[in-house]
Amino acid sequence: MTGSDLPLLLTPIPGPRSQGWVDRLSQRECPAITARRARRAALLGRADDDPPVWVAARGCNVEDVDGNVLVDLTAGFGAALVGHAHPDVVSAAQDQVQVLVHAMGDAFFHPGRVRLLERIAEITGLDRSILGCSGSDAVDAALKTARVATGRDRVLAFEGAYHGLSSSVLAATAFMAPAMRAPFQNMLGHHVTHVPFGGELPPLEGFAAVLLEPIQGRGGVNVPPTGWLETVARRTREAGALLVLDEVFTGLGRCGAWSLGRSWGVLPDLLCIGKGLADGFPISACVGTAAVMDAWGASTGPALHTQTFLGQPVGCAMALATLNVLEREDLPARAAAVGTRFMEALRAVPGVRAVRGRGLLVGAVLADGRTALAASRALLRRGWIVLPAGERGDVLEFTPPLTIPTALLDAAVEALTEVLREGP
Ligand SMILES: Cc1ncc(COP(=O)(O)O)c(C=O)c1O
Repeated sequence: MTGSDLPLLLTPIPGPRSQGWVDRLSQRECPAITARRARRAALLGRADDDPPVWVAARGCNVEDVDGNVLVDLTAGFGAALVGHAHPDVVSAAQDQVQVLVHAMGDAFFHPGRVRLLERIAEITGLDRSILGCSGSDAVDAALKTARVATGRDRVLAFEGAYHGLSSSVLAATAFMAPAMRAPFQNMLGHHVTHVPFGGELPPLEGFAAVLLEPIQGRGGVNVPPTGWLETVARRTREAGALLVLDEVFTGLGRCGAWSLGRSWGVLPDLLCIGKGLADGFPISACVGTAAVMDAWGASTGPALHTQTFLGQPVGCAMALATLNVLEREDLPARAAAVGTRFMEALRAVPGVRAVRGRGLLVGAVLADGRTALAASRALLRRGWIVLPAGERGDVLEFTPPLTIPTALLDAAVEALTEVLREGP
């Protein structure tokens, strides 16, 4: 497996070993977590397969327990930003593991945490961060900061938004709300108002924050009208509220710039980054202006906001290495160029109704959710990993590593063309 290989299948997907692991998983994992045969079969209206079980990954390739080599066009939910197991990132992790695996959250720190905080400030143009372990952590920290800095509770968020599923941010997530949010509504409070993404804004007086993704990722790669984000920023500031950009998906080069918001001329008060920050290791950051972050006041003892693994040394080392690779290889610019070409090629595929996105966050809209699910499953059987997205599930979402060879993208377009020609 070189990292740039075309699919190489030794067994049907899933193979017998994968099937064995799936059967064991189903005995011991909460059934709501991993989609298995029965649930998908119900959606597709016919029999379907269980997922292949990953055992190794490198670059754009994943190897499963049956020895099949697949191409990961999702970068593992967008996290393997510079490719799975990039050698620089792996060696940074190995070096760090030899000397210091764990420090102590807020209580004791290590030089790598300071270096990472400085580097994040450099690339974001913002002053201070709160580190976390997930995208949800970053959004949680941003909403708490907005509360502390403004003294207000209300948050404006957008229909279709995905900000994570932990209960502190679930109130802001609107994506598939009847399934994901409704059962927990009474745990979530009523401080979040949702309005259409890209549409008119209500009066914002009294709001603490306006929280949004510059392009909605999981919601279906929804790109707002030109100039809309600037209007949102202006209206937010006029009302004395804070602008929180959730760039967990769009940031760090995926959309062709270190920050998509900034490339559109908007510098937020608070910025959330995560996913690819350490190329697949769980670390995230909520980054803010000094004025906003300093509203917390100095820590005088027990930290008001911390975690056991805040600023985890291995994650910091891997994040620094990832950011260096992104910069050295000019990957944000590469994502912009390669993504434009990829989107053009997708537009020519019969059955693709629209293509939208920026850089290597790309959505191909198909006829409906069933077609998109069937296409993603047919692609998987051929060794291509792609996920459906969007409120109706009708968007095939492509978020490959920013290092993906163009030959693999061309081959993916061919595979999609064949799959759509064959039909569901
Ligand atoms: C824009 C955005 N924000 C937040 C999150 C939540 O991140 P995590 O799953 O790491 O908690 C996601 C995850 O997909 C996301 O796309």
